[in-house]
Amino acid sequence: MKVRIDPKRCQGHGRCYELAPELFGDDEEGYGKVIGDGAVPDGEERTARLAVANCPERAIEIL
Ligand code: F3S
Repeated sequence: MKVRIDPKRCQGHGRCYELAPELFGDDEEGYGKVIGDGAVPDGEERTARLAVANCPERAIEIL
């Protein structure tokens, strides 16, 4: 499983990196970015789905 953020949709709400700091970080302007290549480690799948469900812009995709 991998996660991806669509930079055209992300408005910097920050829920992803608050709820799932092991998967997401923020850039210098507060927009979300995936950590590393976005690969979701074993056991973090629920956290990834939580982030997807909590992004108000629906900017996060699971691949
Ligand atoms: Fe952006 Fe959504 Fe995260 S708007 S900062 S991807 S919660």
